[in-house]
Amino acid sequence: MNGGGLGEPLARLEGREKVTGTARYAVDHPVDGCCYAWPVPATIAKGEITSIDCAAALAEPGVLAVLTHENAPRLGEVDDATLLVLQSPRVAHRGQYVALAVADSLEAARAGAGAVRVDYRAEPHDVVLRADHPGMYKPDKVNGLYATDRERGDFDAAYADSAVCVDEVYRTPALHNHPMEPHATTAVWAGDRLRVYESTQGADWVRETLAALFALPEEQVTVSCEHVGGGFGSKGTPRPQVVLAVMAARHTGRPVKLAVPRPQMAAVTGHRAATEQRVRIGADAEGRISALAHEVYTYSSTLREFVEQAAVPARIMYASPHSRTTHRVTRLDVPSPSWMRAPGECSGMFALEAAMDELAVACRIDPVELRLRNDTDTEPDSGHPFSSRGLAACLRDGARRFGWAGRDPRPGVRSEGRWLTGTGMAASCYPAQVAPSQAEAVAEASGRFRVRTNATDIGTGARTVLTQIAAEALGVPSQLVDIEIGCSDLPPAPVAGGSSGTASWGWAVHKAAQALAKELAELGGPLPETGLSVRADTAQDVADRSQRYARHAFGAQFAEVAVDMDTGETRLRRLLGVFAVGRVLNPRTARSQLVGGMIMGGSMALLEHSTMDPRFGDHAERDLASYHLAVCADVPEVSAYWIDEPDEQLNPMGSKGIGEIGIVGTAAAVTSAVWHATGVRVRDLPVRPELLL
Ligand code: MOS
Repeated sequence: MNGGGLGEPLARLEGREKVTGTARYAVDHPVDGCCYAWPVPATIAKGEITSIDCAAALAEPGVLAVLTHENAPRLGEVDDATLLVLQSPRVAHRGQYVALAVADSLEAARAGAGAVRVDYRAEPHDVVLRADHPGMYKPDKVNGLYATDRERGDFDAAYADSAVCVDEVYRTPALHNHPMEPHATTAVWAGDRLRVYESTQGADWVRETLAALFALPEEQVTVSCEHVGGGFGSKGTPRPQVVLAVMAARHTGRPVKLAVPRPQMAAVTGHRAATEQRVRIGADAEGRISALAHEVYTYSSTLREFVEQAAVPARIMYASPHSRTTHRVTRLDVPSPSWMRAPGECSGMFALEAAMDELAVACRIDPVELRLRNDTDTEPDSGHPFSSRGLAACLRDGARRFGWAGRDPRPGVRSEGRWLTGTGMAASCYPAQVAPSQAEAVAEASGRFRVRTNATDIGTGARTVLTQIAAEALGVPSQLVDIEIGCSDLPPAPVAGGSSGTASWGWAVHKAAQALAKELAELGGPLPETGLSVRADTAQDVADRSQRYARHAFGAQFAEVAVDMDTGETRLRRLLGVFAVGRVLNPRTARSQLVGGMIMGGSMALLEHSTMDPRFGDHAERDLASYHLAVCADVPEVSAYWIDEPDEQLNPMGSKGIGEIGIVGTAAAVTSAVWHATGVRVRDLPVRPELLL
């Protein structure tokens, strides 16, 4: 056995609770006198409600109330218009909520919702993405943070002068997050105090939003999320169901439970927007890139602007003296897109890495070698050195482990029976981000230690890793540390997003624990009966972090596929990834994040897609019977490794985030393997049999 310190494969602390069904998710919390709510989605894509008839719904046995824009409480101001539910008769997209039935039982609520009669005046809708859509505009920023356009050198001239040119358009479809636990809320009012059990990636944000919407001081709102059954970004911001549940609880005077029914999730919980991406790469005959342009076209809803930074990885990956990266967006009458695992990097690296594979073929250079030739010590756009850049090491180690050496580059020449086989690879990257956080560390009279911070464990193992960080900083075995996370009454901490959670919360936990250890050492005598407590805030530490370095994680992904030459069915045979992610804090939970990301990337390559129905104006695949996700049988062998990568410029643990990089590049590795197997370039995801026959 070990002390469960950093770097050891400690098992998830809540693992037993989860597998025995005692861990409580948002609607599992028992509350007295609880009722249930079921939302009513709009059946038009654009227009106005002309009347709502609730009589039949209210006549259903057990139905207590029907909320509509006519009787729902008025809400305060927030930035996110998707949360301003039941405030107006306008309909911005199909599936937007227009009413809510509340009843004594879930079944009665569902029957009540089905009996609400809504009449509309429909208007023509516009729901199909095209790069030449007349509404395309240049947003101020993308994903709230990144420069929309960047230009270095003279792309047009350098591209025109290049010996070898690739100019292709790649398309990614809308994708849905579909965490196992749907977006769900239990809302309980006690006088003017509101308690919400919420399935969220960040309780503080939910608290702040509810306080603003319901005109409450934040101290009167408690949001807890002790266990969360996945999120992938879709729970990074509050969703309409929490607002509806709180409204309904106020309206009925009873606690309310509301879990978004799976077929409604696609319309109200965000999705990865479809993209159209033109990539142009100009290189010399040896494959050295001189000109690189990545132009991204996507959409957002009319309610909210959200734009994935899909061209941003092209600013980071390869030496490219002349570069242009742009994003354009149009507003369609569609559900609002939002974060989904590696927003930006995931879509953007599919296009960039697929184009790199095409460049390798055009130059007759091995694709691993092509990446090595274009490796760079400084981030091309900023000119900053990387704090660490293990891309080359990942490429070499991955090629060795996968057995890449001696690969015959010719496409369509290997078969086993009726299966054509092929291999492919791509690179990965993801920024190493960090946000300010607070934490408290307490030495208790019992001899145990308590650590408190409002981190969220969405299934990643964050609770376990934070315990290890505290134990190491305190110099005690992890079994002596009790951790409290997932409640807005705890010291404030940022959202579990952008792969920044462990770096951000962990820094605060490390700081508090280290300060506590120092105080204990100075105390020299017995602890006071009340124990000893230290609180830490990393706002200044994060602000002081040197701006001189570019900080990113990197990786190399390898795939082997087999394609049925009669049916066009593609099967994954192997996925292998090697990642440079700083210091790995817990190899067991880290591996599960990386492997999970790779499986999601394989799923994106071969299975996942959502079709916009132009007539009804909504996504056609709205449940897990029609929206296909990879299951175990789709992923026979998947392995993740990492290189040793000490990096002093990150945070006190030396770690980079690992939640998202696993999905980045996987789809390009798979399409490059499909090309190698069949000779067919699939530039329009997912790979479908009809594209290969
Ligand atoms: Mo992740 S999409 O930043 O939660």
